[in-house]
Amino acid sequence: MPSVQKSSVQKNLSISKALLRWYERHARELPWRVGPAGRKKNIKPNPYHVWLSEIMLQQTTVATVTPRFKKFLARWPDLSALAAATQEAVLAEWAGLGYYARARNLHKCAQELTANHASVFPETARELESLPGIGPYTAAAIAAIAYDEAAVVMDGNIERVMARLFAVVTPLPDAKPFLRDHAASQTPAKRVGDHAQALMDLGATICTPRNPTCILCPLNELCAAYKQGLTADLPRKKKKSPKPTRYGTAFVIRRKSDGAVLLIRRPEKGLLGGMLAPPSTDWTENKQQKPASPISAKWKKSNRKVMHTFTHFHLIMEIRQTEVSDQTVTCFKGEWVKDPAKAGLPTVFRKVFTKP
Ligand code: ADE
Repeated sequence: MPSVQKSSVQKNLSISKALLRWYERHARELPWRVGPAGRKKNIKPNPYHVWLSEIMLQQTTVATVTPRFKKFLARWPDLSALAAATQEAVLAEWAGLGYYARARNLHKCAQELTANHASVFPETARELESLPGIGPYTAAAIAAIAYDEAAVVMDGNIERVMARLFAVVTPLPDAKPFLRDHAASQTPAKRVGDHAQALMDLGATICTPRNPTCILCPLNELCAAYKQGLTADLPRKKKKSPKPTRYGTAFVIRRKSDGAVLLIRRPEKGLLGGMLAPPSTDWTENKQQKPASPISAKWKKSNRKVMHTFTHFHLIMEIRQTEVSDQTVTCFKGEWVKDPAKAGLPTVFRKVFTKP
């Protein structure tokens, strides 16, 4: 073997070895995880748990997901139970986690697996990717964690670890293919799931975005950024353009007899699709829009506004409210809800009904 190649292979082998040794002592205990001790005893992770956790963890922190994962699992302990649930129930259970397409696809995926795969997950990333809501990251994570397939798992944490280990100065997202190549070069043939989760834990607890604790890092002697004093500067990121602000109005229609409010279900397609919501105008960048009311009534403008930030824009929503008798609202397909705090509303709409 030529000497350059040999030394790079040796470095890669020792990265994985050092990482796994560290993971054996410092793995986080997570409710969806079979830790390194359990894996050594050949306890297999439950693919349903791995899948559910990976979907929940997209765009959401471990701290937020942990109690929600347990609650979800207590309600729907396996694929068949989830497949038999209604979409409305799944969306309501997901309320507050955001990115609701994840919940709709989760439910679709459970139904697809129950109907066509005997309620069994496929074991390869390639097959997993053909299922609803499972993209390249999730497919690789499930294949690696649940089945130890040598799939390359790349999330934001692992990208940051790779950028530092190999001192990749190309800014993200252009650096992605290089970072992936580095990650692939280190993926071991065995204990692939432990390796991937060790990288996730290292990124979450030591190789953090700001103030990484390099002194405690099991890979510091192998880390090019550490040696070159570049850790704080990596990964580099291309400047993003600032988020625009959109404006709209939410309408709170309260029933005189019992104080219940009228909620509608949003269309399946689009932002917050299928979720319950108060009627509202479209959200546009026009600050001066004259809101078209959903019913003719005496509207009172609230002096409170709702502010919310989505992935691609900030939202400022005015609130108009009115009180009506039952008969007034006949042409409207909605439901009267006594306690909107318990209705499974997305956070932006919960804010309409909660006083700060
Ligand atoms: N982030 C995404 N997937 C994760 C996992 N399986 N364990 C810990 N953190 C994660």
